[in-house]
Amino acid sequence: MSILSFLKKKDTSPASVLPIKTDVHSHLIPAIDDGVQSIEESLAILKEMESLGYEKVITTPHTMPGTYDNSPENIYQGLEKMRQAIQKAGINIQLEAATEYYLDESFVELIDSDAPLMTFGDKYVLFETPFMNQPPQLKEVTFKLAMKGYKPVFAHPERYLYLMQSEYLLEELIDRKILFQLNIVALTGCYSKHVQKFAEKLIDMKAVKLVGTDCHNMGHIQLLKAAVKTKYFKKLMDLELLNNSL
Ligand SMILES: [Fe+2]
Repeated sequence: MSILSFLKKKDTSPASVLPIKTDVHSHLIPAIDDGVQSIEESLAILKEMESLGYEKVITTPHTMPGTYDNSPENIYQGLEKMRQAIQKAGINIQLEAATEYYLDESFVELIDSDAPLMTFGDKYVLFETPFMNQPPQLKEVTFKLAMKGYKPVFAHPERYLYLMQSEYLLEELIDRKILFQLNIVALTGCYSKHVQKFAEKLIDMKAVKLVGTDCHNMGHIQLLKAAVKTKYFKKLMDLELLNNSL
């Protein structure tokens, strides 16, 4: 079922419920990055997400060597703890984990090492870059990921200044089938007016393939509720998004 038909079917349900069943970007494993810091905080957020209509949450702690030294081992350990806590709390959400890789030389080395990367869905690999300047390895990384059978997912493209300023790069990334994952909360202007406008442009271009909450704390849930009421949220939901296929 497409998101559009789902929306139509759900016209009678409360306006606060999102038509998105699966979230693909959040930081809900406690105390391993700049996201939630306790199991209680994570449970409170997941309870809110459940009431918003989410059924599955693929949480994506940062992997940023030197800043957040996470690995599949400690991420899966944290996932297991959270799954037990969710079950105990009676929250009806399926929790899975991948990671948000930071694109720098260490990510190139990791790809070159042939170690299996943390993925979700159909070999999707979520990555982010610095906000101001284009990393020199951007094209190399997306090319290498594709060569190894992965599907690169560009986290929150609306937030990067260098992408806002280069129509050429934007077209090139879209042409190369890099999947754009927009942060829904960007529609509120919470990052900046420029980011909001660029998010709206990406929606108008139909360049967005996935959406995420990028939830780090309860504040993001409040922003999510505000984003749902924006004009562009409806436009976003009319796009062919991959979320509910996951
Ligand atoms: Fe993130």
